[in-house]
Amino acid sequence: MCGIVAYIGHREACPIILKGLKRLEYRGYDSAGVALLTPEKNLNIYKKSGKVSDLETSIEGKDLHANTGMGHTRWATHGVPNDVNAHPHLSGSGEFAIIHNGIIENYASLKQALIKRGHEFKSDTDTEVLIHLIEEVYKNNDLGFEEAVRMALTQVIGAYAIVILSKQDPNYLIGAKKGSPMVIGVGENEHFIASDATPIVEYTRNVIYLHDGEIAIIKGTELTIKTIDNTIKTPYIQELEINLESIEKGGYEHFMLKEIYEQPRSILDSFRGRTHINDAMIAMAGIDKFEDKLKNVKRIIIIGCGTSWHAGLVGEYLFEDFARIPVEVEYASEFRYRNPVLDESDFVIAISQSGETADTLAALELAKSKGATIFGICNVVGSSIPRFTDAGAYTHAGPEIGVASTKAFTAQVTALILMALSIGQKRGTLSSQRLRELLIELETIPSKVERTLATDPLVKIIAEEFKNSTNALYLGRGYGFPIALEGALKLKEISYIHAEGYPAAEMKHGPIALIDEAMPVVVIATQHSYYEKVISNIQEVKARKGRVIAIATEGDEEIKNHADYVIYIPPCEESMLPLLATIPLQLLSYHIAVMRECNVDQPRNLAKSVTVE
Ligand code: G6P
Repeated sequence: MCGIVAYIGHREACPIILKGLKRLEYRGYDSAGVALLTPEKNLNIYKKSGKVSDLETSIEGKDLHANTGMGHTRWATHGVPNDVNAHPHLSGSGEFAIIHNGIIENYASLKQALIKRGHEFKSDTDTEVLIHLIEEVYKNNDLGFEEAVRMALTQVIGAYAIVILSKQDPNYLIGAKKGSPMVIGVGENEHFIASDATPIVEYTRNVIYLHDGEIAIIKGTELTIKTIDNTIKTPYIQELEINLESIEKGGYEHFMLKEIYEQPRSILDSFRGRTHINDAMIAMAGIDKFEDKLKNVKRIIIIGCGTSWHAGLVGEYLFEDFARIPVEVEYASEFRYRNPVLDESDFVIAISQSGETADTLAALELAKSKGATIFGICNVVGSSIPRFTDAGAYTHAGPEIGVASTKAFTAQVTALILMALSIGQKRGTLSSQRLRELLIELETIPSKVERTLATDPLVKIIAEEFKNSTNALYLGRGYGFPIALEGALKLKEISYIHAEGYPAAEMKHGPIALIDEAMPVVVIATQHSYYEKVISNIQEVKARKGRVIAIATEGDEEIKNHADYVIYIPPCEESMLPLLATIPLQLLSYHIAVMRECNVDQPRNLAKSVTVE
């Protein structure tokens, strides 16, 4: 949550910062602000509740000249979203300014102590407390700027990615990280700091991912990286893999639509190079590394949040089907606060698009502390989870900007399919012949997704019909159940219609009471093992006058007798159904949200990367 950008160099800072903030708006969009420091030591701070575009309008005609500056886009945690709580925040004397992503957990006690010592606060934020603390340490101990930041941070409990500047020194910028992401772009006599690489990519491809407990000190054109206990580190400069095109809309009206349409490619990229049909084998270095352990493993625990948790449920079915391993799928936030029974024999898989979700990371830390082997399925290269895990598999979905996850989900499912098949083969629960068949099927999926995307005009008609609904029900069985959950989540997230996903057979234990002629019921009713049962469930809905939208297999004419609308998807292996059935549900939510004039890419109250508990 919250996005940060900073610049120090020879260019005008403000346009770089504003453009960068727009790229990071997926991380929060409650307010935005910039601090611009001129060579003459004038520090101009502009901040505004609302989006970056509101800030942009509000600063038209203002003095924006500066070569050093920083900006912030906020997802509110402490204090309501208003102009005062917007970042940057100033120290008591106005000497220091800060931007912050994360949460200072001991802010209340720090604040009380500071108030007792005469500090006055303007905002309700934890961030303002931190900058007051830094200034106090600076003044009381007669320390330099860098030392003061370092010493103050030793008193802080919580997570942060911060950038601080000092009015006295326009050539000085300090960044620090613990728990929240921070990337430093290294250009020709200029440096960039940001929450991810997207604000940086058009200026330089050389980046450094700061590690937890590290501080970046930029003085003029010199960058030094130290640990919080003052040990100098040699920075590891990496070349960025993303390109500018992948983070722009490319002619689509919204990022979400672009990302839905990218799925034939993102699924392909997630298995390309890993499957070897002729040799009936899958090459996944992370899995091969733990071959011995996985051959005998007694259970797998999958953890995630939101859409990634839904991918985990698909994973459960896959591991059970192909590798015959018992699986538990856990919400990271619950898992971390229980007293889970875990030991060295467990294999824990964390699924996370961003690789930064605080709860998932904390759950992994817990699992690691108990000796379990930890594995990550992540989309963002170099993010915290892949750096923390023993091994992992990247999904190659490319940057996902729309807050509601689409292509990252199908890429996660693709990675899970490969893992389940590979482990199944190693354990002898999947024959080479069957593996070959499944890999041949997987190869067809990108073109089947393409065909599924062609249902878009029909989905749009259905969206028009149901756009004013207040509730919706999504039903599925087997592999269709996690898809029902994911379909309902998509609708909730972006169109603000209350929607619930349910196992189709559970409907009669509650949700059936809600069904009337106003209730759209989306049913995954493809011709797989549960087909007849689902048809019975559809009839139960129809008997209560519910309106049925069925996701069915091409060629199934019978279903037209039961459902009000039928969206056909190509036939496929049951285990690969999630890769196809999800697509029309994504499109349905998208069109309904657009018709309801909702902000599709930045739905209210949500953020893409949830780096707070
Ligand atoms: C947020 C996003 C969801 C995402 C979830 C988990 O809630 O809005 O789209 O599924 O976080 O994120 P992760 O990056 O761990 O997959």
